[in-house]
Amino acid sequence: MDNYDNKYIWIIGASSGIGKALAKNLAKQGANLALSARSKSDLENLKKELDEDTPTREHLIHPLDVSDLASLNQAAKTIKSTWPRVDSLIHLAAIYNPSSFEEMDIEAAHKLININFGGTLNVIHIALPLLKDGAMLREEKSQLVICGSVAGYCGLPNGQPYSASKAAIINLVESLRAEESDLDIRLISPGFVRTPLTDKNPFPMPFIIEPEEAAERIATGLLSSRYEIQFPRRLTWLMKILKRLPAPLFFAITKRMVN
Ligand SMILES: NC(=O)c1ccc[n+]([C@@H]2O[C@H](COP(=O)([O-])OP(=O)(O)OC[C@H]3O[C@@H](n4cnc5c(N)ncnc54)[C@H](OP(=O)(O)O)[C@@H]3O)[C@@H](O)[C@H]2O)c1
Repeated sequence: MDNYDNKYIWIIGASSGIGKALAKNLAKQGANLALSARSKSDLENLKKELDEDTPTREHLIHPLDVSDLASLNQAAKTIKSTWPRVDSLIHLAAIYNPSSFEEMDIEAAHKLININFGGTLNVIHIALPLLKDGAMLREEKSQLVICGSVAGYCGLPNGQPYSASKAAIINLVESLRAEESDLDIRLISPGFVRTPLTDKNPFPMPFIIEPEEAAERIATGLLSSRYEIQFPRRLTWLMKILKRLPAPLFFAITKRMVN
């Protein structure tokens, strides 16, 4: 894909934060969008805004819960019957409950794994037939874009099980990219972005950026050939170096992050 004009793009996790900013960015560049998340009213408000700004484009909303395969299947079925094709599916939906292991709410932790990791498996399951449909007739491969996080690069204190869910997603998307050569599989790895998700963090977040900047990095990155769209690089490279340190040094640093 070398531009977004008249492309058909499904964003899951579009009702707030990075997904909402990305929807506005891609709509401005001429894309037709399908917008999904659980909150119908937030999606309706966003669609109203996009319809006013880009009246020639065909924006749809499909409220769903990624942990509920039936709701994803229903949305995929409707999109398939409404649009001529799907050029890209961008999956950003996730939740985050920071806590220490000692204070962890185990039911909330299982719910998080079910949404973040289980939801990603569900999205991939419905995306493959949808994105491959009619692929032979098109010159370009359809994109399947999954959001990881720098939090998934290595185990950090107080981020569990969110960080573990993102580590699993990074691993999963690597397998997917190797297996699915008919699709253009991409991974997004954000550092800190100011959204309702990070508003929960009680600590100063290094190199934090605004959702509009994150959206611009993603929109530009998806037009390049890079597998991993990572930003801001100052943080992503620091985290990649941290992961490769010898264990005694790695734990000396991460133990200092506790509290
Ligand atoms: N912000 C950061 O610093 C940061 C850093 C690294 C990675 N990320 C990743 O970036 C992505 C977007 O996060 P964000 O910061 O923009 O957070 P956000 O503002 O909380 O947005 C999360 C989106 O996911 C949707 N969502 C949550 N659970 C869902 C479910 N079960 N089914 C369907 N949709 C669901 C939310 O809408 P509803 O609540 O209406 O469903 C919302 O649209 C996430 O994958 C996150 O892990 C963020």
